[in-house]
Amino acid sequence: MKEGNFRSGGRRKFLQDAAVLGSAAALGALAPAIVRAQAQKVKVGLMLPYSGTYAQLGIAIENGFRMAIEESGGKIAGREIEYVKLDDESNPAKATDNANKLVTGDKVDVLVGTVHSGVQAGIIKIVRETGVLHISPNAGLNAMTTTLCAPNMFRTSFANGQVGYPMGKVLAERRVKNAVTLTWKYAAGEESVNGFKDAFAKGGGKIVRDLTLPFPNVEFQSLLTEIASLKPDAVYVFFAGGGAAKFLRDYQAAGLKGKIPLYGAGFLTDGVLEVPGVAAAAEGIETTLHYGEGIETAKNQAFRLSYAKTYKLQPDVYAVQGYDAAVLLAAGLKAVKGDVANTKGMIAAMEKAEIDSPRGRWRMSKAHNPVQDLYLRKVVGTENKVIGVAAKALDYPPASLCKMA
Ligand code: PHB
Repeated sequence: MKEGNFRSGGRRKFLQDAAVLGSAAALGALAPAIVRAQAQKVKVGLMLPYSGTYAQLGIAIENGFRMAIEESGGKIAGREIEYVKLDDESNPAKATDNANKLVTGDKVDVLVGTVHSGVQAGIIKIVRETGVLHISPNAGLNAMTTTLCAPNMFRTSFANGQVGYPMGKVLAERRVKNAVTLTWKYAAGEESVNGFKDAFAKGGGKIVRDLTLPFPNVEFQSLLTEIASLKPDAVYVFFAGGGAAKFLRDYQAAGLKGKIPLYGAGFLTDGVLEVPGVAAAAEGIETTLHYGEGIETAKNQAFRLSYAKTYKLQPDVYAVQGYDAAVLLAAGLKAVKGDVANTKGMIAAMEKAEIDSPRGRWRMSKAHNPVQDLYLRKVVGTENKVIGVAAKALDYPPASLCKMA
């Protein structure tokens, strides 16, 4: 992307212009404009799913984001935050129009979103074209932080392959011989499965069959029948939200639980264990993820307490990612003393930020994706208990695939 695309004019540009004019009077006349700009609210566009199978994920992200802002008194660098919310329905067909509405129509200062990788592809198109500052608090589309990376785009979550890879590594180390994979047929599921297969194959594991169904279909019956007849040593799945809850119950109801070991990207069991019948169906299942409820740090314990008190809900990985998105934005805004038009200054600070997250401390890769530990977790009751680190400080797919313009 060309530098000219950034909205980096703002205050610095004005000072340069004023210097060119060479007139102290010009400076004096324009100074109140700066004061006015600083007093204005920072407009944050929240483009998230508030309906459909990922609705709870969108809500958790918004909750986490708002909680971090409230922890600093509702203001960052002296500026209040104004939210413009948009339900993207996890619908890729509407994604570019929706992103455009927020960026060009509402003129948001920063676009925060989304959950679904197909919708993310539409957001990427618009934020690359306009240069608006962007933070993804979930969607793991690998390309965002590899071939399509850009200076104005950041992610506080993960890349899809980054979560699948460690699960493949764990099963390969255990000498599991073969596996069936199953997911929704779209970028997130496919990239998650490919990450799993990459590590599993390196350790000698074989794939018996790759099964898919369209997003957000939850008619799992015929696929479960097929798994029962294939009798693999393991099943690896990517499902999340409402679909994950239904899948876990169906797997148990089909009589497969305890017979054919089920593994997954941690989204399978995150944020769903409170849903009636799900904890029992998920008991003992192991997954990999960059978060787990039981992380024993003061930061995580304080975060969990505060979230439960504020929202009367247990936080999950999505709440953590939303929280970190606000912490990252705050690091950028503080560095430019609230001058949100100074995109370049914000980017420089966000690239350097070390995020003190409930998941543990992490930093951005050169591609603007978290370099982070991936935990091995096991469901015990209503908790994803952390039982080990499956991969330390994992940068996958590698940031070297990103060539920043
Ligand atoms: C995605 O589409 O990138 C996605 C959705 C839900 C998740 C994880 C990834 O839990």
